[in-house]
Amino acid sequence: MGAATPPLMEYSVSPDPRRAVAKLPLSHGRKRRSVGIVGLVVEATGLRKRFGQVHALDGLDLSVSAGEVHGFLGTNGAGKSTTIRILLGLARASGGTVRVFGADPWDDAVSLHRRIAYVPGDVSLWPNLSGGEAIDLLSRLRRGAPHDVAEYRRRRARLLDVFQLDPARKGRAYSKGNRQKVALVTAFATPADLYVLDEPTSGLDPLMEAVFAAEIYRVRDEGATVLLSSHILSEVEQLCDRVTIIRAGTTAETGTLSELRHLTRTEIAFSSDGMDASRLAQIAGAHDLEVRDGRVRLTTDSTDLAPTLESLAALRVQALTVAPASLEELFLRNYGERTVAAPPQLATRS
Ligand SMILES: Nc1ncnc2c1ncn2[C@@H]1O[C@H](COP(=O)(O)OP(=O)(O)O)[C@@H](O)[C@H]1O
Ligand SMILES: [Mg+2]
Repeated sequence: MGAATPPLMEYSVSPDPRRAVAKLPLSHGRKRRSVGIVGLVVEATGLRKRFGQVHALDGLDLSVSAGEVHGFLGTNGAGKSTTIRILLGLARASGGTVRVFGADPWDDAVSLHRRIAYVPGDVSLWPNLSGGEAIDLLSRLRRGAPHDVAEYRRRRARLLDVFQLDPARKGRAYSKGNRQKVALVTAFATPADLYVLDEPTSGLDPLMEAVFAAEIYRVRDEGATVLLSSHILSEVEQLCDRVTIIRAGTTAETGTLSELRHLTRTEIAFSSDGMDASRLAQIAGAHDLEVRDGRVRLTTDSTDLAPTLESLAALRVQALTVAPASLEELFLRNYGERTVAAPPQLATRS
């Protein structure tokens, strides 16, 4: 971990007006409940989980502060879903400690789940219930009594509209994206203190991703905490205050996006025709420069792109491509090939 962790109570003193809202009572009239003395909603340290010979988690650390949207980022098989299932008491850790709202998710699952909305990575529904029936059933399971039925109906109708979900169709007729929408509508139709979302947009089209983003901003403004797992860096960049990057069941990096800026470099490539060392030396802000297969490749800090592009224009480069680094490229560059190339069984301890 490179950058220092900011003070835990950062959000209670932040000048950002959205943060100020976080200290007000929730819109549905409940006061924010205490989250433990240090303001951490999720605290996992040295988390281990074995499935037979596979070490899915191998000493993972994750801290999520109250009121933040926390990105949980890792390639497929890194251990995101396993961690989330442990946080929800759906799986038991083989080692390490885990606290959610200061409680043990394995022992205190009933009380914790009243405060948590969960969207699983793979949503399965009752084949013979309509989407609307599934939403109502899941919501009743979550809310318990007493609750505000009129408020629930209003929220549900708005969410069905913005997510464009037809609640009359049977579960068996829904696509993966529609099943995900059922879970999302359920999650957002009832207020929660913590939203745990496991790759919630993986089956959604880009328009729906914008709808999803708006809901995340809304619940954050109401003071909720969000843990959002993803293998898509750009999604996390857009929505999250802080990010934890995991690799092969351990924490690789954690921090704010500006602290992790060294990871979010933009990739630039162009034809090497007519380029020599003295010309390449004129490129401003170039990192990782290499010439291979007739192409010059380099990276720049995404926040500092303009001087680089100006110097490329002055050099009159040909066949230019500019792209944000993909998560896979970031992992290759920062943590070595093993991370991406390894099949799941190589994620075990050697
Ligand atoms: N129930 C299980 N049985 C055996 N292996 C599992 C099980 N669940 C997850 N794993 C393995 O644990 C590792 C982490 O998986 P997972 O947490 O699903 O990763 P992610 O959600 O980041 O894609 C993978 O190697 C996966 O194959
Ligand atoms: Mg997963």
